[in-house]
Formats: sequence, C-alpha cells, structure tokens
Amino acid sequence: MSWHASVLTLFPEMFPGPLGHSLAGKALRDGRWRLDAIDIRNFATDRHRTVDDTPFGGGAGMVLRPDVVDAACGAALAEGPDRPLVFLTPRGRTLDQAMVREFAAAPGLVLLCGRYEGIDQRVIEARGMREVSIGDYVLSGGEPAAMVLLDACIRLLPGVMGAAASAEEESFSAGLLEYPHYTRPAEWNGRRVPDVLLSGHHAEVAKWRREEAERITRERRPDLWAKHQQTHAAGAAAIAGRPAAA
Ligand code: 6GU
Repeated sequence: MSWHASVLTLFPEMFPGPLGHSLAGKALRDGRWRLDAIDIRNFATDRHRTVDDTPFGGGAGMVLRPDVVDAACGAALAEGPDRPLVFLTPRGRTLDQAMVREFAAAPGLVLLCGRYEGIDQRVIEARGMREVSIGDYVLSGGEPAAMVLLDACIRLLPGVMGAAASAEEESFSAGLLEYPHYTRPAEWNGRRVPDVLLSGHHAEVAKWRREEAERITRERRPDLWAKHQQTHAAGAAAIAGRPAAA
C-alpha cells in the first residue's frame, strides 16, 4: 500500500494540478503515492447541496457547516483511519521540514482545504484536526497550501529521489541554506566561476561550499543561523577547544 493523500475540497478539479508534473507526477504514475480529491459538496444533504451558512453573531462571509465537513472527513478516514487529519489554515502552526518528515513517515494524510471565512470550530475540535499554515500571508483557499505540503512530503518518500539526493538531505548541510551553483561556460558575460571550483581539489571545494552556505545563512536568515549554531554547539566547541555547555 502506497502513501495515501485524500484532499477534501470544494474544487477537486484543481488536483492533481502541479502535482501531476515533474517529480511528484512521476512518483504518482509509478504508484509511490496515491491521490484522492474528494468534493466536500458530495456530503451536503439538502437538494441545493448547501455546504455553508452565515456566521452566528453576524459578520461578513460564510462558514462551512460542521455536519457536512464531518461527513467528508469520515468518508476519507474510512479509506485509511491511521492518517493525520490536517486543516490548512493561516491560523495554523507554520509548516517546517520537521513536520514534513513526520507527515511523510505516516501512512498518508487527509487534507481539509478551507474556503470562505472558515470552518465551524466544533468540527475542528471534535475531529482533533492538526491546523497547519504554510507561512505568514493569506491565500484565498487552502488548495495551494495542500499542494505545497504534499510536494514537500512526496520528495521524501522511499524511491522518489535518488540515493545521492537523499544522502544530501541528511548531510551536515541540513539547517543551512544552499551554497551557490555554477556550470559551463567558465566565463559568461565577464563573470568568472570561482577558481576553487575549477581546481579539482575536492577538500578545498567542500570547504568553500561550507563557508558559502554559512555566510549566506548568516546574512539572510539569522534565525536559522542561531538554530544551526545551537544544534552544532558540541562539534563547534570541540573544534574550538572549549566546553560544549554554556
Ligand atoms: Cl494553509 N491557507 C490559506 N488560506 N492561507 C494561507 C495558508 C493556508 N498558509 C498561509 N496562508
């Protein structure tokens, strides 16, 4: 049984979308993961197939009904009950690579995409949903966020990327931004590739890349740099000949 994604959405025709192309698309065709896009509207019970209603207490926008969302969740979970149920919302915990690793190691995911103003709070609590955001900005719906989360998981599934790439993922460079890359020509529009990369000295190349990765992380992402330094405190201390603990 392959990694199983069920997406609950009012726009099932958006899927697979970008996930049908490139690495994720190849993995989908190879049967390394499975995707079901489920139309939440199929779980409406009235003849107008109503999924939303006006908010109690007043205000703008519409709210997805708990009974409709609950029935959709139940149908998805019947096809794989051990999967985390994730509600994509800008109010959620911000997605990071540790969360992606956890989700990729699960049997799959049930992803609930929000639209309108929101979803009735009671079904979020009753189903024990994990609320996840992909960053501090607002999308018009959860579908692009679901695609982002799925792409990040799929590239970690066994057999999706080559052995070299997965080794790279776990290497010392984890937690740092990537060093710059160059290919032919060695000079382009008056810009030369750094000499060390043409030298053939593998140890020198590795040292240059490491220093560049550290410099770029320090300059662009002081938050990541601080975390990386904490994580590698023991190694850094040993190199500097001082105690690891503060
Ligand atoms: Cl998960 N949904 C929406 N609508 N906007 C977002 C988001 C999710 N993550 C960041 N912005």
